[in-house]
Amino acid sequence: MIRPATVHDVPRIAQIINSHAELGKMLFKSYAQLYANLRDFAIFQSTEPEGRSEIHGCVALTIIWADLAEIRSLAVDEQHRGGGIGSQLVQWTVQEARRLQIRRLMALTYEQRFFEKLGFQVVPKETLPLKVWSDCINCPKNQSCDEIAVVRTLDDVPVIQAPKAIPTPSGVAIPVLDWADDD
Ligand SMILES: CC(C)(COP(=O)(O)OP(=O)(O)OC[C@H]1O[C@@H](n2cnc3c(N)ncnc32)[C@H](O)[C@@H]1OP(=O)(O)O)[C@@H](O)C(=O)NCCC(=O)NCCS
Repeated sequence: MIRPATVHDVPRIAQIINSHAELGKMLFKSYAQLYANLRDFAIFQSTEPEGRSEIHGCVALTIIWADLAEIRSLAVDEQHRGGGIGSQLVQWTVQEARRLQIRRLMALTYEQRFFEKLGFQVVPKETLPLKVWSDCINCPKNQSCDEIAVVRTLDDVPVIQAPKAIPTPSGVAIPVLDWADDD
């Protein structure tokens, strides 16, 4: 079952995310960050035969702009990989984007094949708006980011007439992009 996260889930969410962060796969999250952004989060919870329930995965959907939301903090604990939990969590973000009428979803990831199977396409990082890079300041890899950007457009969500997000400036060195060439 996937449901919105509550404050009770924060210790387990932190455990799942930070176990991956230790391996360099994700950004560390403090309890303070998780509480502050808790409304973005959903968790996958199993119900065991004895009635116990356990959280096996989490995801967050952060609104970047009127036409763009970012999938963050997607993780499934090691023992429960490959059983479709990651896909279901991404599907929750798709439904949430539809509910919010946000037409495009993106993620910064190392898991290219996983996202491609779910209808995402790799895009050059500099096609994303400047606001996407705000979290990179907290990343230990910010000078040598090797994540790729993936995007999925929800064709059934209408195009919104709204001010455009500030683009990523070309030729300006932003940590996660390649350093600009000196001509
Ligand atoms: C990426 C991750 C969330 C996938 O979760 P999961 O529950 O194992 O994924 P699913 O079982 O839903 O897999 C869906 C499909 O993707 C494939 N897949 C999953 N991880 C893959 C990978 N690393 N490379 C290639 N294919 C992958 C599965 O084989 C499956 O294919 P199928 O539909 O043909 O059977 C999980 O591996 C994880 O937590 N990784 C570490 C944290 C991380 O990198 N998060 C992404 C941050 S954006």
